[in-house]
Amino acid sequence: MNNFTFHNPVRVLFGRGQISKLATEVPAGARVLLTAGGGSIKANGVLAQVRAALAGHDVREFWGIEPNPRYETLMKAVELARADKVDFLLAVGGGSVLDGTKFIAAAVPFPGQDPWDIVSKSATIEAALPIGAVLTLPATGSEMNCYAVITRGEHKLDFGHPLVYPRFSVLDPETTLTLPARQIGNGIVDAFTHTMEQYLTYPAGAPLQDRLAESVLRTLIEVGPLTYADPTDYDARANLMWAATMALNGVISVGVPQDWATHAVGHVLTALHGIDHARTLGVVLPAMLSVRRAGKREKLLQYAERVWDLRPGASDASGTSSASGGDAGSGGGALSDDARIDLALARTCAFFESVGVPTRLSAYGIAAEGIPAILDNLGARGPLALGERKDVTRAVVQDVLQAAL
Ligand code: NZQ
Ligand code: ZN
Repeated sequence: MNNFTFHNPVRVLFGRGQISKLATEVPAGARVLLTAGGGSIKANGVLAQVRAALAGHDVREFWGIEPNPRYETLMKAVELARADKVDFLLAVGGGSVLDGTKFIAAAVPFPGQDPWDIVSKSATIEAALPIGAVLTLPATGSEMNCYAVITRGEHKLDFGHPLVYPRFSVLDPETTLTLPARQIGNGIVDAFTHTMEQYLTYPAGAPLQDRLAESVLRTLIEVGPLTYADPTDYDARANLMWAATMALNGVISVGVPQDWATHAVGHVLTALHGIDHARTLGVVLPAMLSVRRAGKREKLLQYAERVWDLRPGASDASGTSSASGGDAGSGGGALSDDARIDLALARTCAFFESVGVPTRLSAYGIAAEGIPAILDNLGARGPLALGERKDVTRAVVQDVLQAAL
């Protein structure tokens, strides 16, 4: 196991009715800026609960943080916060509102000319406004991490800094009952892929982290379809919400290598083609694992065994066909190791599709001619060296995109 320092300072208030705790969680006397998206929190009553809890506070509101939050929009909030001498930010919404608010928090006191440098040049962050969050969409983990993804023009880039961890996050599963099925499917696939980016690399002598990651994956496989099918099932939604938080709050990644190549490619697909974040991952992850199967072989076999119950010697009783067109042992005999990997990837695709998330680029009308533009955007900031071994070059990404057509 690699050395690590772990510190996650986010206080999580989980469950029904927890929004009322804002009354004491938001400091008395603070000049608060509530940040929000396009209006879902008005329609589902979350805003009314927040306003009621903050009745005694000094609150102004900034609306219009869009999915895949844009720099130009966020800079309007920065101007408002500076002009009004805001000293506390309260993000109410999904990952985009939370991410956008992290950027606002770092940009308000940023001394440089252009806060975009925080994202594009990893400019030093020496101060940030404190943030609180009310999460309404389980997916990104933004509620309990210090990362944010911001878009400017055709560039979707991420930054992270300990100063932008939320001070607290309210996670009330009831706020998610109004999510369209599409956003639930997206959340399941985003959380699943976050876990895979930290788990499916190579063995690092960290069995606890492996088993924690496998627990998150198996929980998503168990509760994902339940909550996708039935939005009134509070327990299923509560478990999805906590699983999504655990997928990217730092617990499963301590001391182990991490990949994140799927996310890097996915961000370009969103920037160039407007595809929802999670839907880019649904397309890229299976192809990424298939193309890089040699370097990931041991963990792929562990994944097959422990997540999909495809143990050595297992036979293909499911009739599921091979992900890569190879011989998955459909004759019913013992599966080879390669066949177990193929079958695990086929089941991953079937799982994504079962919650409405396609696994092929063709679902978005992207064909082979579209690949060079994706590679150029991805490589715009220097030669590519992605993945846990930094060996995912432009040529590898090309193969991945080709495999995902
Ligand atoms: O804008 P409103 O009206 O609020 O509607 C939103 C939005 O249209 C709606 N919504 C949210 N909660 C709802 C609801 N509709 C009904 N009922 C509710 N309770 O859902 C739509 C999508 O919201 P968005 O916040 O964009 O989705 P998500 O949470 O999936 O966030 C995606 C963003 O997070 C970034 C992505 O790149 C993308 O920009 N990520 C952030 C990460 C992080 N901070 O660590 C990691 C992730 O890998 C990801 O990259
Ligand atoms: Zn993600």
